[in-house]
Parts: sequence; structure tokens; C-alpha cells
Amino acid sequence: MSFGVDGPVRAIGRRAFIDSDILDAEYDRVFHPSWQFLGFAGEVPEPGDYVLRMLGRDEVVVVRGEDGEIRALHNSCTHRGTRLCRASLGNTAHLRCSYHGWTFTNDGRLVGVPALRSGYPPDFDHTRHGLPSARVACRRGFLFATWDAKAPDLEDYLGEIAWYLDAILDCGAGEWEVCGPPQRVRAKGNWKIPTDNFAGDGYHMRTTHQIALDQGIYGDTLANGTRGRAGTDLVAVNIATPAGHSLRAGYVVESGRSIDERDLTAPQFPGYPPERWPALTAAQTPEQVRFTSHCEVAHGVVFPNTVFLSVAHDRAVGEDADPLTRYLVVRAHVPVSARETECLYWTLVPTAMDREWQRRSYRFQARTQSAGGILFEMDDFENFARIDAALARSAPGRGGPVDLTLGVGRSTPARNFPGPARAEAATLSEHNQRAFYRRWSTLMGELP
Ligand code: FES
Ligand SMILES: [Fe+2]
Repeated sequence: MSFGVDGPVRAIGRRAFIDSDILDAEYDRVFHPSWQFLGFAGEVPEPGDYVLRMLGRDEVVVVRGEDGEIRALHNSCTHRGTRLCRASLGNTAHLRCSYHGWTFTNDGRLVGVPALRSGYPPDFDHTRHGLPSARVACRRGFLFATWDAKAPDLEDYLGEIAWYLDAILDCGAGEWEVCGPPQRVRAKGNWKIPTDNFAGDGYHMRTTHQIALDQGIYGDTLANGTRGRAGTDLVAVNIATPAGHSLRAGYVVESGRSIDERDLTAPQFPGYPPERWPALTAAQTPEQVRFTSHCEVAHGVVFPNTVFLSVAHDRAVGEDADPLTRYLVVRAHVPVSARETECLYWTLVPTAMDREWQRRSYRFQARTQSAGGILFEMDDFENFARIDAALARSAPGRGGPVDLTLGVGRSTPARNFPGPARAEAATLSEHNQRAFYRRWSTLMGELP
């Protein structure tokens, strides 16, 4: 049976969002060959520090060994398979199984077997019973892992999207540090639903989020484009790579102008204090400046399920005077089942920004884009749950495939756009979602 993708991916069959057989296939065909985001090296700074995370269908202990190396060890005893580690984070030199007491070091070696001499054959080989360890790669503190020995190196896997991630991270204020353990929330709906939203859905802002914008939660910036800054518009570009990675960036420009017509002789970096703009300009390459200058919001997906959002935010309710402050949130959308997703949120701040700015940044993220966010998250999750409920309730084949044609034939290449991959200028477009599902459907092939 085919999965209902029309030619150049303009629609996706509804089954893709509700069927557990499809999730099973996704684990093998989409997640297995991909690099998946586990968290940040800063979450496990000391030898023995660990966190529990999912890698495809497997739980792994992401642990820094005594040798300083970070590994992702399968969290299942090699004797009968008991789950070894049950605390979501901690520090340990050893993992001892609760069933018969087999004990592993924090680099995965089996070192303790009760009754070894009296009970086991003389040729019992410890080295054959170590914990399976995934490939782990750390890029600027971001930890990715894959079980696939044949997967390309992380840098090749990221391809063109790495340039954009670097442009977001190179802000001239030090590297980025993660603020505590991730927040987590379970959302109703398939993992692809929130993920395609982050790939490029600017379309829902004026319906789903309009009321919160009208209430002033988002102050004078993104509301209705750039309300409050008279004479400006928010215009977007959509960038998607053949590997399914994507980014949508929104720029503040004078009304009626295109992103090519920004004043780049005086670069502006919304969300950073104006007095930092010269340093920021100096810290970036001229091409990076052309990408980041006047950029109000950038969000996207590292295929398959890592999501990032960098946005300038100016106030939460009751804090009218707070200046425009940027926050960066990285998310993982982890399947719990075909119809439920665990969202993990990490907030990052540049180490060299002052403490007050950092606190504001963290607070704005927590109040808008998080488990308890008063804007965005609750409204978005409600939509995702409604999608899930209606898809699951419908008779097979009812309703036709999910449409992805917004922007087809309407975007134009962004002229003089500095980064790699083709950039399409279109404030409303599903260009990025089409790229996401094109990659997904290529990997999935014929559906089960
Ligand atoms: S199942 Fe782990 S020691 Fe037996
Ligand atoms: Fe939203």
C-alpha cells in the first residue's frame, strides 16, 4: 500500500499520523538511519553524570565516563533485559541491575557478575556482555546519536543547515549554556504534527495565536506582523535542504519592502541590546550578518525530530517595560506512541550576556514556549489534540490526504540570500513542510 503522497509531495495520507504500524516502520526507516538529538554536554559536566533519553525506540543512559567521554548506553541489562537505570538524571560510577546484580561501569563494561566463579562456565566472557553503545557526536555542546554504523558523520548529516545553526549561535557573546534539565510535556498527537508546525508554519499565527497577540502578551513585535513599530512588515524566507532539514526566518523590513532591501549598512539584531550590535556584527562573517540582521524569528527542524526556535520577545503580561530580548529554545519531539508525543525543551543563553538579560531570556521562553507557556504552547497543543482526535475517529479513507500546497508556485528565490541551500521568499508557505515530508516519504518507501 502506498502512503498517499502525491507526486512532488503535496499531500500526506491521514494514516501516517495515527497508525502504530507506521510508527514501527518509522523507527526502522526514519529514526534508525538519522542522527537524533539527545541533549547537551552541559547536562552531564562531570564523570558519572547521566540523563535518560530516548534514541529511536530505545532508552539510553547518556553518561559521561570516568575518561570524560560521553556515551549513550542501552538501558537494558544484558542478562535478562531488566531496565537498569530508573532515575531520569544523576551521577553514578556503576549501573547495577536490580534483578540478579550484574554491574556495569559507566562506560558500559560488565564488571560484576554474582556467583561468577561458582556458577558460570569457565569460558564466560565479560566482554561479550557489555551494554550496546550508540554513536555519539557533540557539536558546539549539542549531543546527537545514532545506532546506525553506516550513517554519515554528523557534520555531513547536518549539511547546509549547520551554516544557519552557526549563524544563530555566533552572537559574539560566548558559547551557549543550557539552563537546567529540559522541561517535558506530553502532547496528544503524532510526533510529525508539532514538528511540521515548527518546520515552517507561519500560516497559523493569525488564527491560532491572534487572540493572545491581541491581548498584548507578545507586546509590540510579532503581533500582526510588527504592530507598534509603524511602517514595518514581517517578511519570511523558507529554506529547506534535500535531507529534510529546514528553517524559516522572519525579517523586519520597512513596509512594502522585501528582505533584499534591508539596510545592511547598519545591521540590527532584534532581541540583543543595541549597544551589542557592533560587537555582534564583528563576530559574524559578512554572510552571517546578511542572514541575521533584522531577523526577528528563526525556527526550523533538524530532521527528523529536533526543533529550534530563536525569537526576539518583548514582554510577558504585566511587564510592559521589558526590552526586546531573544530566547533560544531547542526541542525534541519524541514519539510515545503513534498518537502521543513527549516534547522536551531546553533553553540556552550565551554565557557572556549579563545575568539580567539571561534571566529575562529564560523567563520569556518559559512563559511562552514551554510546558506552561501562556502563549503558543497551549493553543498549539489544543490544535494538535484536535487533529489527532478527528483523524483517529474518522473512517479509513475519509477526508482525503492532508494538504500541503500552500505557497506552491507562489514563492520566488530570495535574491542575494547569503546561506547555502535554496531560500524561497514567501511569508506564507508550506515549502519547508513539503521538504520534511519528501524526506520522510523517501525513507519510508512503501508503507506497511
Ligand atoms: S536481569 Fe540483570 S542481572 Fe539478571
Ligand atoms: Fe504556534
